[in-house]
Amino acid sequence: MSYVVTIDGPAGAGKSSMARALAKSLGVHYLDTGAIYRAIALMLDESEININQPELISEALKDIKMELRNGAVLVNGVDVSGLIRTPHIDKIASEYSALKCVRDALLNLQQEQQNFGSLIAEGRDVGSVVFPDAAVKFYLTASPEARAKRRCLERELKGEKVNYQETLQAIKSRDKFDSSREASPLKVPDGAIVIDTSELNELETLNLLESHVKKILKILF
Ligand code: DC
Repeated sequence: MSYVVTIDGPAGAGKSSMARALAKSLGVHYLDTGAIYRAIALMLDESEININQPELISEALKDIKMELRNGAVLVNGVDVSGLIRTPHIDKIASEYSALKCVRDALLNLQQEQQNFGSLIAEGRDVGSVVFPDAAVKFYLTASPEARAKRRCLERELKGEKVNYQETLQAIKSRDKFDSSREASPLKVPDGAIVIDTSELNELETLNLLESHVKKILKILF
């Protein structure tokens, strides 16, 4: 029996690492929906199509071919995974993803992923809009300060220069923007289990998620 587990929440709450780890430990697929929005933002930005040009955006998205393969994102056959995690893409992915035309164009692609088997999906609206009937829904959150610290550490480990105050401000303004947009705002999905990870390390969070999933799946299947 295949199932979907969703993990929503703000930037830096640990969704990606948790979804990846949970998928690995349960032996199922991992769907990073943020990577899809990031890849689209990169493509539109490179084509010099801005957020005030919805007709051009819809046109561009009609012809685009996106594939998700082993954690990589391919746009028209080109692997863009290495180009989509920069502060610039953080910002523009948030802006493009607020547009209804962008969200509508990407809904099917996300939903189709459940045809390949059980799935741990993470994003901003996966439990509320993309997979409203998911077997288990989580909402991971953490204080803006804890999330900024993690983002800085993540980027430092990649050898990038970071500024904590700037990262904190960027996180706060992205939260505000993602939560107040009209199309699929970031919110706690109905029926989601809310987990605050501010004081938890990765292993503690993973154990908590895994125990919820196993308990619920046992009841369901
Ligand atoms: O999770 P992330 O930081 O990689 O996501 C990048 C941007 O994409 C984020 O600002 C909001 C948007 N996003 C979204 O609107 N809906 C999703 N399901 C996933 C991401």
